Amino acid sequence: MNFPVDYFRGVDTPFYYYDVELLEKTIATVKAEAERYGNFDVHYAIKANFNPRLLKIMADAGLGADCVSGGEVAAALAAGVPASKIVFAGVGKTDKEIALALDAGIFCFNAESVPELEAIEALAAERGVVAQVALRINPNVGAHTHSNITTGLAENKFGIGYEQLDDVINVIEDMKHISLIGLHFHIGSQILVMDDFIALCGRINELQELLFETRGLVLPHINVGGGLGIRYDAPDKYPIPDFELYFATYANNLKLYPGQHVHFELGRSIVAQCGALVTRVTYVKHGGCKQFVIVDAGMNDLIRPALYDAYHRIENLCSDKADEVYDVVGPVCESSDVFCHDRKMPATQRGDLLVMRSAGAYGEAMAFGYNCRTLPKAVLSTDVK
Ligand code: LLP
Repeated sequence: MNFPVDYFRGVDTPFYYYDVELLEKTIATVKAEAERYGNFDVHYAIKANFNPRLLKIMADAGLGADCVSGGEVAAALAAGVPASKIVFAGVGKTDKEIALALDAGIFCFNAESVPELEAIEALAAERGVVAQVALRINPNVGAHTHSNITTGLAENKFGIGYEQLDDVINVIEDMKHISLIGLHFHIGSQILVMDDFIALCGRINELQELLFETRGLVLPHINVGGGLGIRYDAPDKYPIPDFELYFATYANNLKLYPGQHVHFELGRSIVAQCGALVTRVTYVKHGGCKQFVIVDAGMNDLIRPALYDAYHRIENLCSDKADEVYDVVGPVCESSDVFCHDRKMPATQRGDLLVMRSAGAYGEAMAFGYNCRTLPKAVLSTDVK
């Protein structure tokens, strides 16, 4: 990724910068690799980044959308994603959100509990429509990732346990306004070990066999969620994740019945590497035993380091001097407003521009206004003159 430093000098910091060419290449790769199989559908997980201009690029490229709120369903529709490619997940969908999705005629609700199914049934009945539903199953598969972003363990709040599944299907059979069309799974995010996805395939295969043997049931749609990770340590070496290996892992390990479709909900792997948070150094402070680079971006602009201890590469666009060791910190009144500890970086001074790499996913989308700070703006490479 190249940064137009001269252009950046004239822009108020902090802001997110997106390389549209890289995003388009990434999308083209995802699509080409998925299309090899004929029955693989990709829904972009909007939660990773819902910047309307990026959403439009996703929609124009023909990706579907994976949404987790009424706001996201509305954003997907506004960007031009057809309702027939929208899936809607989440443990706590409100009546208002369900109504919005029913009125739009989305492809599928990923439902997570009996009370939720009852709410969908009632609202669909009021409208005289039939809602298509996939059941989100908790596969009890661990993932090699941060404990805050694993979702597929029995102790997590997500999904329906295997032992309850039979009862839930019985309940649905009596519902006239719900059509059960699939099963949905998601084990976590930032997963780089393919064995985790293989373990998920194993659980899905077992479950499919069980449903077939006990009920003669084969559902047309299997949604395996998202979770493919990216290389935060080497964004320039690995700008596009290995989608070929990822899809091949599913193709080789998932046992499908004739006519079944596989759906993917990829967020981070599509959008992370094309984005960077650009910030200016306000001060360099020499503390008792440390040197602090104090920047004008804070944890409110990029919360991942504070929340998950996440690593982002930080590069100084204005210095190629010899390395020194710094803590890079923000201005927010919280001790956790730290982007990195003891990081080697070229000698840095007030006014230098720094970029925090691999911040296109869960960066801008998770920004908030603590301390009356303004939300970061976005600059696309196509805006640069
Ligand atoms: N599908 C479901 C049901 C999900 O819960 C998620 C992410 C995705 C798909 C997309 O996962 P991805 O392909 O992006 O890994 N804020 C955290 C990540 C939270 C992920 C939440 N769910 C972070 O910054 O690392």
